[in-house]
Amino acid sequence: MKKFAIICCILSLATGTATAEIVPQIANVQSRQTLSLNGPWNYIIDVQEEGYYDYRMNPTSWGFFRNAKPQRPEDLIEYDFDKAPTMNIPGDWNTQDPRLFFYEGTVWFKRSFDYHQPSGRRTLLYFGAVNYEARVYVNGRAAGYHIGGFTPFNQDVTDLLHDGENTIIVKVDNKRHAEDVPTQIFDWWNYGGITRDVLLISVEPNYVENYKLSLDTTDPVKKNIRQIHFSAKTNKAEAGHTITVNIPELKISRQLTTDSNGTVSATMQAKNLQLWSPDTPKRYCVEVSMGDETITDSIGFRTVEARGKQILLNGKPIFLKGISIHEEKPYGGGRANSTADAHTLLSWAKELGCNFVRLAHYPHNEYAVREAERMGILVWSEIPVYWTIAWTNKKTYQNAEQQLTDMISRDQNRANIIIWSIANETPHSNERDQFLSQLSNHARSLDNTRLISMAMEVTSASNYHNRLNDNMNKYVDVVSFNQYIGWYRDVNDAAKMTWEIPYDKPVIISEFGGGAKYGLHGDKNQRWTEEFQENLYRENCAMIDKIEGLAGTTPWILKDFRSPRRVLNDIQDYYNRKGLFSDNGEKKKAFYVLKDWYTTK
Ligand code: GCU
Repeated sequence: MKKFAIICCILSLATGTATAEIVPQIANVQSRQTLSLNGPWNYIIDVQEEGYYDYRMNPTSWGFFRNAKPQRPEDLIEYDFDKAPTMNIPGDWNTQDPRLFFYEGTVWFKRSFDYHQPSGRRTLLYFGAVNYEARVYVNGRAAGYHIGGFTPFNQDVTDLLHDGENTIIVKVDNKRHAEDVPTQIFDWWNYGGITRDVLLISVEPNYVENYKLSLDTTDPVKKNIRQIHFSAKTNKAEAGHTITVNIPELKISRQLTTDSNGTVSATMQAKNLQLWSPDTPKRYCVEVSMGDETITDSIGFRTVEARGKQILLNGKPIFLKGISIHEEKPYGGGRANSTADAHTLLSWAKELGCNFVRLAHYPHNEYAVREAERMGILVWSEIPVYWTIAWTNKKTYQNAEQQLTDMISRDQNRANIIIWSIANETPHSNERDQFLSQLSNHARSLDNTRLISMAMEVTSASNYHNRLNDNMNKYVDVVSFNQYIGWYRDVNDAAKMTWEIPYDKPVIISEFGGGAKYGLHGDKNQRWTEEFQENLYRENCAMIDKIEGLAGTTPWILKDFRSPRRVLNDIQDYYNRKGLFSDNGEKKKAFYVLKDWYTTK
C-alpha cells in the first residue's frame, strides 16, 4: 500500500494537481498593485509535446513544467530552459523566430523572478491573453488552464509562491481544432504565444473584483440631473464590507456596504454631467475603494439606443463612419499589444474621417479599447464565433459564452463600446440559431446598456437584387451584414443594385471592399490594381447611399493583414490585400474615395 501511495503522490506532483485556481477576472489591472513579468522569456519548441506527455523520463524529471536540473553527473535531463533562447513577452512567436512563422503547436515559456510575498495579502498571476491554450505552472505546480486566444485570465498563486526566486512555466499550444472558438478555418494569421501582458497582482484577501458605472440607455435629463448606476462586486461573498465610490469632479461620494453576495449597488445623481461623445470624449476620474485599496479609472458617460432605423448617441441620431481593423501592428510586425500600436492604427482611422471602428474578429487588447475611448472613437467589439463553428458541441458553446463574458466584464466601463458582436458570417441552420440566440440573451443579461449585433450574410436574390433574410434578426438590436459586390460578386456597376432589408432596425454594413496591391497600377477592370479597388469603392459608396435606414458601415479593412489563406505570389504573399493602407502604412487610392465619401455623411 505504502509504495502505491508514494507513486500516487509522485504522479500527482508530476501532473501538478492544482492547488491554485483560475479566479473570476479582476478588472482594471492597470490600477492595481502589479509587478510586470513582461520582458525576455526562455522558450522551447516542443513539436511532439514531449515535455508534457513524455513517459520515458522518470517522475522526478517528468515534464518541462518541472524545470528539472541534473542532481548527479549521471542524471539524464533532455531539456534546459536556461540554455534555451529568449523572446520578448508580450509578443507572438511567429514574428520573433523565423522557425515559428507558420508554426502551429506547443512552445514552452519560462520566466524566473525574485518575489517577496506581502504578508496577509494574496497574489494573482494575470495574462492579458495567450493564444490559444495555456497550461500555467508556478514552481512546478499546476496553476491554471485556459483556452481562448483573446481574453484575459488570472489565477490565485499565493500558495505556490515563496520568498526569493520563483519560476513560471507556461505551455502554449495554438493548434486549431474543429470544436474551438474560432474553429479550424479563419482568415487571419494564427499568431501563437503569450501575446499580451503578464502581471503579478497583489490584492487584499477580499478585494473589489469588478465594478460598473453607466447611464440608462435612454437616461432622461430632469433639470440637468442624470442618474448614474453604480455596482461593484468583491471576490468573496461577505457582507458588511464598506466600498466607497468617488467622482470628485461631480462632487459624488457614496459609502456602501456589501450584501451577503459581496456586492453593492446604488444610483447616484449627477448634475451638469458632460456626456462622452466622439466630439467631446469627456471622461471622469472615478475612485473605487475598499479597505486601504483604491482603484482609479477614467469613465465616460453616454447613452446609446436603437430607435427604428436609427442609432442614437446621447439622444441624437449618429451615422457610424467606420472601418474594420485586425489586431496587427501598423507596420507588419505581428500582434499589436500596446497603446502605441493602437494610437497609430486609430490615427489612420481618424485620417479616414472615422468616428467608429469594428475591432475584428475577436476582443482586441485593453490598451486599444482605452486609446479609442480617449481619442473619441466608438467601438464594435466581437468574439471570434466565426464561420463554421461546432454549433452542437456543448463545450464549444461554453467556450464562446466564457469569451463573451470575459470580453464584457473587462470592458463594461468603456463608454466608447456601443456594440457587442456575437458572430461573423455564420452559415444559417437551426443549431446555429439556437447557439447564437443563447449567446445574445447571455450578452443582454450581462449588459443591457449596449446594442447587440452580429455580421450576417446577405443572400443575392439575383445579380442586381439583394435580400437580407436571417432568423437572427429577432435577437439583435442592429442588423449588420457583409457584402462583397464587385469583389466576390463579379459586378462592377454596383450602383445599380437594389436592396431588401425587411427589419425595422438600424443597419450597418459590417464589411465591403476589395483587394489591391499597393503600387500596382492599371485599368480599373484589372484585378489587384489600386484603380480596381478605387472603382469598387466608388461603386459601392454610390450603392450604399441608396440603402434606406443605413446607420453606418465598417468597410473591410484599414490595413493589409497576414492570412494563411492568401497565397497568390507577388500579389498576396500571405497577406489579405483589402486594406486601404498597405502593410507598410502606405495609403492606396481607395483611401481617398472613402475619406471623401465620409465627408458627405
Ligand atoms: C469575410 C470575413 C473576413 C475576411 C473577408 C475577406 O467577410 O468576415 O474575415 O477577411 O471576408 O474575404 O477578405
